[in-house]
Amino acid sequence: MHTIAHAAGVSGRPFEAPVLLKEGTRLLEPNVYRTLVEGQPAVVKDYSRYRRTLLAPLARLLVRREARALRRLRGWTHAPMLLGIVGGLSLAMEFVPGEPLGSRRSVGEDTFRQLRAAVAHLHAAGFTHNDLHPANVMVSGDRVVLLDFASALRVPRWLRNAPVLRELRRSDLANALKIEQRMTGRAPGGFVSQVLADPRWVTSVRDGWKRFYRGFKASFGQ
Ligand SMILES: Nc1ncnc2c1ncn2[C@@H]1O[C@H](COP(=O)(O)OP(=O)(O)O)[C@@H](O)[C@H]1O
Ligand SMILES: [Mg+2]
Repeated sequence: MHTIAHAAGVSGRPFEAPVLLKEGTRLLEPNVYRTLVEGQPAVVKDYSRYRRTLLAPLARLLVRREARALRRLRGWTHAPMLLGIVGGLSLAMEFVPGEPLGSRRSVGEDTFRQLRAAVAHLHAAGFTHNDLHPANVMVSGDRVVLLDFASALRVPRWLRNAPVLRELRRSDLANALKIEQRMTGRAPGGFVSQVLADPRWVTSVRDGWKRFYRGFKASFGQ
């Protein structure tokens, strides 16, 4: 996969021409560009290659879902600010200058503390992120920003204690802790090990989903 995302935020680069940050190669993955929107550096997640295809409604749904999540999180320092939906199949948001957590060599303790606090805050607000990995966490100076809310879920308060929701929260937390563990080399303590362990039913559901996704991709993939 071609990615020049780590070049984003290099000072002194002109922002005028759209710069491809990530090319969408897999099914329903957007092309991600850095560009200017009303004179401001912005990031556009663009699904327009699905226009006039069978998958266009799904692509529109992904755009709308991510926009809705970012709209609800507007003003929160740990999410990029939504700029809007363009033509139904593209989502524009604030460009966050910096480096994805995964491409940083040394990461301070405060970054991990912010990451844990951001996940806790997201959960308290009724969201699960569902796709936390080092490329979806941007470090911008002192600010840690969660990216990629395409898979995020927000559920009404009465549903929040359902086992599947508890599992999604556990899985977010486990992903944040795994990033920290991988980058620091620290062995997890007793409580952390418990959080990191996948319950057996989760492994079976996940395997089932992977089989379904492979079948879906074989039928509709490019
Ligand atoms: N608001 C943003 N500011 C800066 N870089 C971003 C922003 N959004 C995305 N990126 C960069 O583009 C990459 C892909 O965006 P992402 O939203 O994760 O798309 P995908 O759903 O294809 O993974 C990210 O890993 C990050 O490097
Ligand atoms: Mg991503």
